[in-house]
Amino acid sequence: MAFLIVSIFPKLFVIELLFFLMGKILGIIGGGQLGMMLTEAANTMKSEISNVIVLDPTKNCPASKVGAEQIVADFKDASAIKELAKKCDIITYEIESGDSQVLKSLEETCEINPSPETLEIIQDKLVQKRFLAKNDIPVAEFREITSKDELESKINEFGLPVLLKTRTGAYDGRGNFKISALDQIPEALQIFKGQSLMIEKFVDFKMEVSVIASRSTSGEIRTYPLVENMHKDNILNMTIAPARTDDTISKNAEKIAHKTMEVLHGAGVFGIEMFVTDDNHVLINEIAPRVHNSGHHTLQSSTTSQFEQHLRAILGLELGDTKLIYPTIMYNILGPKNFTGKYKPPSIDLENTFLKMYGKLESKPQRKIGHVNLVDKSGLGMAKLLENIDILSNSIKIVPE
Ligand SMILES: Nc1ncnc2c1ncn2[C@@H]1O[C@H](COP(=O)(O)OP(=O)(O)O)[C@@H](O)[C@H]1O
Ligand SMILES: [Mg+2]
Repeated sequence: MAFLIVSIFPKLFVIELLFFLMGKILGIIGGGQLGMMLTEAANTMKSEISNVIVLDPTKNCPASKVGAEQIVADFKDASAIKELAKKCDIITYEIESGDSQVLKSLEETCEINPSPETLEIIQDKLVQKRFLAKNDIPVAEFREITSKDELESKINEFGLPVLLKTRTGAYDGRGNFKISALDQIPEALQIFKGQSLMIEKFVDFKMEVSVIASRSTSGEIRTYPLVENMHKDNILNMTIAPARTDDTISKNAEKIAHKTMEVLHGAGVFGIEMFVTDDNHVLINEIAPRVHNSGHHTLQSSTTSQFEQHLRAILGLELGDTKLIYPTIMYNILGPKNFTGKYKPPSIDLENTFLKMYGKLESKPQRKIGHVNLVDKSGLGMAKLLENIDILSNSIKIVPE
C-alpha cells in the first residue's frame, strides 16, 4: 500500500501527509508574539504537531503570520474556547487570562496544559502567594485586604512603604500602587475601587531576576540558568543572561524554581520572577504560567529555546538541554511613547545580533513590537556587551511608514 501511495504521489507530499496523520493539532489561547514564537517552534516539529490554531481577538495576529490558523474572538469567549477545544488535541496558552472555569469544563474532551487548576492558582496573586507560602517557598509578607480599616491595620503591622496590588488581571505594574505615606491610602483605594486587593511588604531588592522553568507531563523538570531583568516604566527593558550574581544566589534561585515546579504540578514552561534582596535572599515575586519575555534570549543562547521546551513539556517529550551556551542580552523594542500608527520595521545587519520583529502592523506607545538578542560568541564579556547594547538600542528608531 505504502509503495502504491509513494508511486502515485510525490515523495514530499507523502511525508507531509504522514506528518499530518501522526501529529497533534495544537491550540493556543493568544496569538501575540509569544504565540507566534510557539508556532514557529511547532513548525519545526511537524512530526509531533501537524497544525496550530490560535484564539486571538486581533485579526491577522502575529501567530497567524507564521502559519497558525486563527479563531478571531476574545480570550474569554466561552463558545470560541469550546470551538478551539473541538478542533484541537491539546490546548495551551500564551496569556494567563483565559477563563479557567470554561477550560476546566473542557478537560474531558481535550488535553489542556498547564492544567486549568494550575492556571487558577496563578491567576489570583493572593491565591498564588498563599500556595507558595504554604509550600515553604520564600515570598514577601502579604495580606488580603477587604476594607480601608484592614489596610490601615496591616500597614501598621508591616510599616511603610507597602505595595497595594490588585489580585487579578494585572500587568506591566498597572495593578500596583506603592503606599509610602498614610495620606495616600484614599487615593490608592479609589484607583482600585471594586477590585479584590492584597498588600505586600515593599522589598528592598538589589536585583530582579527570573528562572525559566519547565516541567513535562512525565514529571521531568529542567530550569534554565538565572537571568537578570531590568525594567523601565514597569516594562521589561532588557534581560541579561546569565544574571550578574554570585554562584550561591543563582543556585539558590534555581533550586527555589525547581521546588516550585515540583509543588505546582503544571506542565509546560513557567516564567518565575524573583527578587534578590540586599541581604542576598531570594524571594519569588510572581509566576507566569507560560513562556516569558525574559526567556527570549534562549532563541540564540541555548540549544533548546523556551518555545520548543514548552512544546516538548506539554507533549510529554524528553526536555531539551537548558545550558546557556553564550552569554546574551535581550533588549525589548517598544513603540515610542508619542506615536501610534504604521511604522517602518527596523533592520540590523550586525554580527551576532538577532533582530526579531513581531509583525505587528501598528506601533502603539510602549507596545512590545520586537526584540533583539546580542549574543557573545567571541568572549567579549558582559561589560562590553552592555556597552554594545546601549549603542544598538540608541540606533533603533521606530519611525512612521
Ligand atoms: N513586594 C514588592 N516590593 C517591591 N517591589 C515590588 C514588589 N512587588 C512588585 N514589585 C515591583 O513591581 C513590578 C511589577 O509587579 P508584579 O507583581 O510583577 O506585577 P505585574 O503583574 O504587573 O508584572 C515588579 O517587577 C517589581 O519591580
Ligand atoms: Mg511581574
